[in-house]
Amino acid sequence: MRIDKYLAQMGVGTRSEVKQLLKKGRVTINDQVEKSPKVHVDPEDDKVCCDGETIGYIDKIYLMLNKPKGVISATEDDAQRTVIDLVSEYQHLGIFPVGRLDKDTEGLLLITNDGQFNHDLMSPKKHVAKTYEVLSEKNITNHDIDMFKSGIELNDGATKPAILKPTDTPNQSLVTLYEGRYHQVKRMFHAIDNEVKALKRIKIGALPLDEDLAPGTYRQLTQEELELLKQ
Ligand code: URA
Repeated sequence: MRIDKYLAQMGVGTRSEVKQLLKKGRVTINDQVEKSPKVHVDPEDDKVCCDGETIGYIDKIYLMLNKPKGVISATEDDAQRTVIDLVSEYQHLGIFPVGRLDKDTEGLLLITNDGQFNHDLMSPKKHVAKTYEVLSEKNITNHDIDMFKSGIELNDGATKPAILKPTDTPNQSLVTLYEGRYHQVKRMFHAIDNEVKALKRIKIGALPLDEDLAPGTYRQLTQEELELLKQ
């Protein structure tokens, strides 16, 4: 990979800013000053520094965000704050959210630049479970639980069987879905004559939301967590 491309991809600057840094002799490859933007580096083996600071190569990135209410699950928007604005330090890596949460939904959202990872988690054929904590207008009944289990008729067809479980908190329940349609939890509650008051995603597959992450904060997934998602 060309050194100017490497440095730009790692967020050191734009391609032309990086060329200036090189010209000024501020970049070293394996401790030798390099001034040409055309020189190639091996991201695995070569040590690249700018102003003496090592610029390690990051290829694929996997972030866990505790999405707060009020931001949209898009990569860019002229008017509204997006989840990518919240993780702007990684923006130069070409990241995007894995699926979507509504603007007023909070909780676990994965962000990556790995298209295959996104596909493996989001493809309808993969049936990856997503679990939500729901605060609803009314308490749920045994009949509601049965309805969710047999599938609910929505205007875009019947849902797959879903698991609905009350918690010990009044009007609170946990819902696990094996598909992800537009406003699905809200529409399923509406169909059983109830309404969602607050929605938080707490789990994707076997990966729970890290409760130490305050809304709006994020961190990289660990290797163990990536393995959990492949189960
Ligand atoms: N279901 C919804 O209704 N909204 C979400 O954000 C996610 C699932």
